[in-house]
Amino acid sequence: MYKILISLFLTVSAIQGAGIGMKIYGKTCVECHGDDGKDLSISGKAIAGSGDVLKKLTGYKNGTFGGEQKATMQASVEPLNDEELKAVAAYVETLK
Ligand code: HEC
Repeated sequence: MYKILISLFLTVSAIQGAGIGMKIYGKTCVECHGDDGKDLSISGKAIAGSGDVLKKLTGYKNGTFGGEQKATMQASVEPLNDEELKAVAAYVETLK
């Protein structure tokens, strides 16, 4: 019984986590990367399926990752805290 409750709880928190990530993505990222993470017009590459998203976002935030346009990304991730970065990274990982 406990096991069922625990796995139910974990499932619900995972879904809520994805929900928060989706919200942040819709508010903060979609204008440049598109609904599906495949918009190339601004970033030049698809983020859907690119992998290591949390590592990249953290890198943009602390200046250890990025290409020619990293300042653009730095401005986008700068206002997000660690929890929000994790949530949005987890959401981006679901985009294929
Ligand atoms: C104003 C436009 C803009 C917004 C808003 C934006 N990005 Fe970006 N994103 C870019 C650009 C431009 C690049 C390429 C930057 C570089 O040269 O490294 C990029 C790169 C990335 C990359 C790295 C791709 C790779 O594999 O190298 C990831 C991951 C990413 N963005 C995720 C996000 C997420 C998540 C958000 C929302 C929190 C977001 N971006 C918001 C423009 C934007």
